[in-house]
Formats: sequence, C-alpha cells, structure tokens
Amino acid sequence: MIRLQPKLPDGYRLVAYDSIGSTNDEAKRLARDGAGEGTLLWALEQTAGRGRRGRPWVSTRGNFYASLILRPDCPVNDACQIGFVAALAIGGALGAISPAVAVFYKWPNDVLINRRKVAGVLLESEVIWRERPSFVVIGVGVNLSTSPKGTEFPATSMVAEGSSAVSPNVMLEQFTEHFQSWLATWRAKGFAPVRASWLAAAAITRGEPVRVRLDTRTLDGSFLDIDDEGNLLLDRAGECRRIAAGEVFPVA
Ligand code: BTN
Repeated sequence: MIRLQPKLPDGYRLVAYDSIGSTNDEAKRLARDGAGEGTLLWALEQTAGRGRRGRPWVSTRGNFYASLILRPDCPVNDACQIGFVAALAIGGALGAISPAVAVFYKWPNDVLINRRKVAGVLLESEVIWRERPSFVVIGVGVNLSTSPKGTEFPATSMVAEGSSAVSPNVMLEQFTEHFQSWLATWRAKGFAPVRASWLAAAAITRGEPVRVRLDTRTLDGSFLDIDDEGNLLLDRAGECRRIAAGEVFPVA
C-alpha cells in the first residue's frame, strides 16, 4: 500500500496500492467481504490487469488504474448504464485536465481521442437475488503517459495526443469528482441525460458502417442509435438488431 492523500468526494474510502494484480479482482474480493459503496481501489501498476472480453490490460507505471465499488438498488440491466456514467466521467476528467483534447465515446464504454482508445471501463457485478446486483465494480484504465502497441483497436495516451504529463493522482481526483456528479444525475434523472451527453460525443455517427463482434459471430451493419437502456441498435439492411454486449469496429 502507498500513502497519498488525494482529495476525494464525500463518501469515498481510498485503498491505494503501489502494485497489485488487478484492482477489479481485489475490489470484488473486498465487496464479497462487505466493503461498502464508495470503496475505491487505486494502483500505480497492475501485474494482471484485465480488459473486457478476457483481454489483458497493459498496466505499467504512469497510467491510471482504479476500481470503485457501488451498491446500486436497481436491476442488473440498469446497472450496466453505470459504464456510460464512468465513460462520461473519464471524458470530463480528461477535458478538465487538458482542454485542448477532444474526447469521443465508442459503445459501450470506450473513450477515444483521434479515433484511438485512450481509456476503457470494465464493469463487473454479482447477482445473488432477483436480478439485482449485490455490488458493482467499475474498473477504469486510462493511458496517461503510454499506450500499448499492436492492440487490435489502436491505442493512444494523453501525452501522445499532445497533453503535458498527467499524474495519476490528478486523474484520480478529476475522475472521482466527475463520476460523483454524473452518478448523481443518473440516480436522480435516469439514463436519458447520460445517453444524450454520450451521443453528443459519439465517435461513430448515425449511419456509419460498423462491424460488431459478439461472442460467437460478427455482424456488419450501420450504427443506428443507443436505446433508452444502453443497448446498441444496428441497422442490417433495414432490419434493426438490438445488441446488449459486443465490440464495435468502424469499417473504414
Ligand atoms: C477495456 O477492455 O476497455 C476495459 C479496461 C479496464 C482496465 C481497468 S484498469 C483498472 C481495473 N482493473 C483491471 O484489471 N481492469 C480495470
């Protein structure tokens, strides 16, 4: 554990590590042991960082790695919308840190600059009773100073996009401030304002051709919309497909 005292919103309890396997894995362990909403795990590096769909998340020093425990009182499908809340909070934080960068969102929760991925969100939950999560862990990785080479979807970092150096503790303070504000909006007003802000900065615009990778197959079509629950709507030759989970690639 490291000793640092970043300024966090009321109700957050920081657990900081110099190095850990995965903040998401440890957050799930703490949540199962009863850790409360607002428990925030933050590490300077991860040795077994995980991305979505079982991919590794390269987690060397200089970037941002954190996982927040929430205990939302809603069905698990609605809890998935917290991934959009997290993406908007990352975007807000990056914009506040470096106003010159233009941030965009790719479904479901990727954050892009110049069509390259600068940040990702890994949302994990456990349901033990009537489709309601007992907890949700929101894992956030942001490439501040470096980004991995050779990823399937091109990656970038804040520094590569012209930002001056950003320290992970500044990112921590900015992310939590923006997350708290967006979470309050989502809890008070639902998904509509989150959806509207996300769509206003969507990396892929309506009608743009995309390829969507599902678990066992890929679908080609064009991006239609995000519905009012957060599903992707894909136009396939006039037929609308509703997709709850997958990976989107723009077709050049
Ligand atoms: C993605 O694939 O886009 C999601 C990446 C999420 C990475 C973060 S880093 C902090 C937290 N701990 C992990 O092991 N993964 C998430």
